[in-house]
Amino acid sequence: MRLTIATHDDFDSVIDVVNQAYRGLSSGGWTTEFGLIEGPRVDRAALVEMIENGQTTILLARDRASDRVQGCVAVRPMEDNQWYLSMLAVSPACQAGGLGKSIMTDAEVFVAERGARFVKISVIDVRDSLIAWYERRGYERTGDIEPFPYDDPSVGVPLRDDLNLVALRKSLQISDPVE
Ligand SMILES: CC(C)(COP(=O)(O)OP(=O)(O)OC[C@H]1O[C@@H](n2cnc3c(N)ncnc32)[C@H](O)[C@@H]1OP(=O)(O)O)[C@@H](O)C(=O)NCCC(=O)NCCS
Repeated sequence: MRLTIATHDDFDSVIDVVNQAYRGLSSGGWTTEFGLIEGPRVDRAALVEMIENGQTTILLARDRASDRVQGCVAVRPMEDNQWYLSMLAVSPACQAGGLGKSIMTDAEVFVAERGARFVKISVIDVRDSLIAWYERRGYERTGDIEPFPYDDPSVGVPLRDDLNLVALRKSLQISDPVE
């Protein structure tokens, strides 16, 4: 698969896929935030802010036949050759068929080509099956735990008061050129 870079024209599709995947009432996806957080995960203002001010690139996976957006992920550079990966989403109807893994793999290649040696992600601590999924992809807990941003209304309405974010990190395999 080849991921493409989202532009403003793709925002409606991204909002749709992300909000359905994360917060859909009966999305049918195997892992969601349903029951943990209510409300939209993203809106247009958040995407504009991410792209224009946040150094973020949103990568899209499209269906080859219809060109519809089926999944996405956001990446941005941090300090020390680390890139932060977020907003990974696959349309619920397309989940559990390998698309999420494929997006992760291609996003890691995308950031490695831009100098990344590590990829960092944050996951809500109670999402055990999702954390296990990332661990099977080579991500390891760093030991850092941050409080969930309860004071940030843009993340939605948390339905529990005991959420935290755990940090996971993957070292990308960089093979040095053979002399
Ligand atoms: C997380 C997400 C991107 C994965 O995408 P996907 O296309 O479903 O993933 P894949 O098809 O590549 O992989 C499916 C995996 O789920 C596992 N799986 C399927 N059903 C499952 C279930 N009921 N419980 C636990 N794991 C399950 C499969 O075993 C497979 O993992 P494996 O290959 O390591 O065995 C997608 O579920 C999603 O968009 N979720 C909502 C948004 C979200 O939570 N994003 C991450 C926030 S940090």
